[in-house]
Amino acid sequence: MSASSTSASSSLAAATGVDEAAVAQAPRVGSVYVYEAPVRLWHWVNALAIVVLGLTGYFIGSPLPSIGGEASDHYVMGYIRFAHFTAGYVLLIGLLGRIYWAFVGNHHARELFHLPLLRGAYWKEVGAVAAWYAFIRPRPNQYVGHNPLARLAMFFGVFMLSVFMICTGFALYGEGTQYGSWAHRLFTSWVIPLFGSSQDVHTYHHLGMWGMVLFVITHLYTAIREEIMGRQSMVSTMISGYRTFKD
Ligand code: HEM
Ligand code: HEM
Repeated sequence: MSASSTSASSSLAAATGVDEAAVAQAPRVGSVYVYEAPVRLWHWVNALAIVVLGLTGYFIGSPLPSIGGEASDHYVMGYIRFAHFTAGYVLLIGLLGRIYWAFVGNHHARELFHLPLLRGAYWKEVGAVAAWYAFIRPRPNQYVGHNPLARLAMFFGVFMLSVFMICTGFALYGEGTQYGSWAHRLFTSWVIPLFGSSQDVHTYHHLGMWGMVLFVITHLYTAIREEIMGRQSMVSTMISGYRTFKD
């Protein structure tokens, strides 16, 4: 190609963004399909439900100052509780759907629900990720599914904690829907006696919120940090399903 046609094509590339030569020379990255569409959909719907539950739950526990006038005219606490209970149903139905997908989906869809606790190799990788996060190890290992430390946090911080929040939340909800309702039969009847009183269930349900907040803050930090510093894609993997590797 002559010098004039090279400069013509580079000025065309600058003007249009179409640069076939640069595309041909770009390094190829490998990709693996990891998170199927139902897992990705559940992740984002579940994340939204938890944000709504956290915000509205906080205001149920620490209500805004009272507003004057007839309560039914402004209905502030009513809307807050309605949003909380709606998101509570989304959390429950979403988790049931996600458990179904663990049975019919690929093997990465099952990682959230069990831990290879008795495998030494698993704990060795947990240590390797912790050392990388703590800036002790210069490079991370690459993982196709969740990294072993993330998996540990997700098992306790999302799966187990969601089950706990659903049991305690629907136990409180069943007090409102009263004796004979499904929520009362399935949850209130055994959860309230187990904790001792309704107030105890409120307190532990409230404490569970702070556990979730802790998970979410750590999760956001590590997901974004790994996207930038790690050797593999993270956030885009939860959007497209594909994991790409940088080297
Ligand atoms: C309330 C908020 C959130 C919760 C409770 C949450 C929870 C989870 C859970 C349970 C998984 C595992 C998915 C599975 O195996 O089914 C996961 C993965 C993931 N989440 Fe979130 N998430 C939240 C918000 C976010 C946000 C805002 C981002 C983006 C910045 C994000 C990025 C990711 C990524 C990248 C993964 C995949 C990690 C990996 O490949 O190992 N999450 N999250
Ligand atoms: C991530 C999940 C959840 C979070 C973070 C959360 C948070 C909270 C918080 C902080 C409170 C206030 C507790 C207090 O100090 O008295 C609360 C109350 C409550 N939550 Fe949840 N919750 C969650 C899930 C659920 C679910 C699944 C349900 C089921 C419908 C539910 C139903 C309730 C009920 C009935 C109350 C009491 C309302 C009242 O006394 O007016 N929550 N929640």
